[in-house]
Amino acid sequence: MKKGLQNILLSATAALVLAACNLSTAQNSAVEDTQIGLRNVELKDEANVKNPLITWKGDLPGSNEVFERSYENAPPLIPHSLDGLLPITLESNACLTCHTIEVAKEMGTIPAPQSHYMYLSTGKKTKEINTERFNCVQCHVPQANAEPLVKNNFKADFRNTESNRTSNLVDVLNQGIK
Ligand code: HEC
Ligand code: HEC
Repeated sequence: MKKGLQNILLSATAALVLAACNLSTAQNSAVEDTQIGLRNVELKDEANVKNPLITWKGDLPGSNEVFERSYENAPPLIPHSLDGLLPITLESNACLTCHTIEVAKEMGTIPAPQSHYMYLSTGKKTKEINTERFNCVQCHVPQANAEPLVKNNFKADFRNTESNRTSNLVDVLNQGIK
């Protein structure tokens, strides 16, 4: 046999042996289904699932501490309680009574930003909050006293001092493109 071919065959055999070893260690350390996910019960068990105790922080709108944004241009958490404001339906969206550009000043709230008054895919502006943003709680969730279920070392970096409290997505969206 030629030397080159011999070498190739040898390394192919070595690779096979290695793969077999990997397989057997994988089998030995098989993950139990109680270890998958964050519920810590068997996957098919629906009876013993316990949700972690969460204290929602919010009181009536107008009386709450506002958390810093999770990262620049993250959807802000809702600082107030949602009592009486849900569900959002086609006919009734209580969020609009306080957060549209027209009423925000009068209601003492931050209005929904420009990104909610345009279709980001086309840049087409809309007079009212557009349909893509209608279901506010799809992106905005209430503040809670809850420990992260998984340790996370992420620390947000804000490029300027206001961006931990306000958003400017539309202004920065095309940065580096134009
Ligand atoms: C009665 C008026 C009112 C209604 C209705 C209302 N909000 Fe608010 N919202 C406020 C006020 C006032 C604040 C300022 C924080 C506070 O004091 O609670 C606020 C703050 C917020 C913020 C935080 C903005 C920031 O600067 O971080 C978000 C997000 C928000 N509201 C979302 C919603 C959503 C979603 C709904 C509908 C489910 C809603 N709000 C309904 C009055 C209202
Ligand atoms: C598809 C996700 C999504 C939906 C739906 C959505 N938002 Fe937002 N919202 C965001 C994001 C992301 C930001 C921050 C970046 C930005 O400026 O767009 C934001 C920012 C905001 C802010 C802060 C504005 C500021 O100047 O800092 C308010 C208030 C707000 N949204 C209210 C609402 C209300 C009220 C609705 C429902 C009518 C809504 N949002 C629906 C994603 C969403």
